[in-house]
Amino acid sequence: MDSRISLLCFLVLASSLLHCARSDGNDAQLLKGINSYRSSLKVPALAENKNAACLAEQLAKQFKGQQCTNTTGANTVIGTEQQFPDYPKYLDHCHLNASVTEDGQVMPACVPGLVPAVVLTNYTKSQYNRFLNDSQYSGVGIANEGDWVVVVLSTSTGSGDYAPAPPGSNWAASVQPFNLMVLLLVGFVVLLMK
Ligand SMILES: *[C@@H]1O[C@H](CO)[C@@H](O)[C@H](O)[C@H]1NC(C)=O
Ligand SMILES: *[C@@H]1O[C@H](CO)[C@@H](O)[C@H](O)[C@H]1NC(C)=O
Ligand SMILES: *[C@@H]1O[C@H](CO)[C@@H](O)[C@H](O)[C@H]1NC(C)=O
Ligand SMILES: *[C@@H]1O[C@H](CO)[C@@H](O)[C@H](O)[C@H]1NC(C)=O
Repeated sequence: MDSRISLLCFLVLASSLLHCARSDGNDAQLLKGINSYRSSLKVPALAENKNAACLAEQLAKQFKGQQCTNTTGANTVIGTEQQFPDYPKYLDHCHLNASVTEDGQVMPACVPGLVPAVVLTNYTKSQYNRFLNDSQYSGVGIANEGDWVVVVLSTSTGSGDYAPAPPGSNWAASVQPFNLMVLLLVGFVVLLMK
């Protein structure tokens, strides 16, 4: 087998792994913290929901650059959450219909420097606690931008599962990079075993 091909495979694989580690480290740590909190309450762990994560990313981008104050993020007064006029666009971008996000929960938090322990308490020891300890939520998507983290909770029912809109939409395009990576991984392992 051509060694240049295996080197190329290796480089592609290594760079995609590095990219994942760089962009998802904080989010993965927060998810771990939230799930240990849930496990301490004997509530099932949250599974990652890619579409909820997509919406979280769209929202985090909007919050980015806004300053943390005592009325933003976890400190916001229920009912006065910031509304985004472009919200329907973000849903579209993530191939979601408003009907599947109804029972979901969007929870932004602002922590200067995103200090992991402070971020976690912003979820477990704030008004968000009553959602985190609720077994009705089964999925989660997390994104961070700047000093902001957005956690989006999904349910396992049709009105909150963040299932992508049916055919006509091109949501399949968004899973392809993952498939490609699996292919590369398998190819790499095969090469290693030669
Ligand atoms: C927020 O902080 C300002 C001063 O920075 C203070 O006047 C106000 O009472 C605070 N609000 C809350 C809800 O703590
Ligand atoms: C999308 O949601 C609207 C109401 O929010 C509903 O009328 C429509 O049937 C939904 N479309 C699909 C494809 O689920
Ligand atoms: C949330 O984070 C802010 C820092 O932005 C901090 O001042 C506040 O005490 C935190 N709240 C909780 C409940 O941990
Ligand atoms: C969840 O939290 C809310 C408020 O923080 C509390 O009233 C409720 O009893 C908690 N539920 C569980 C199952 O711990």
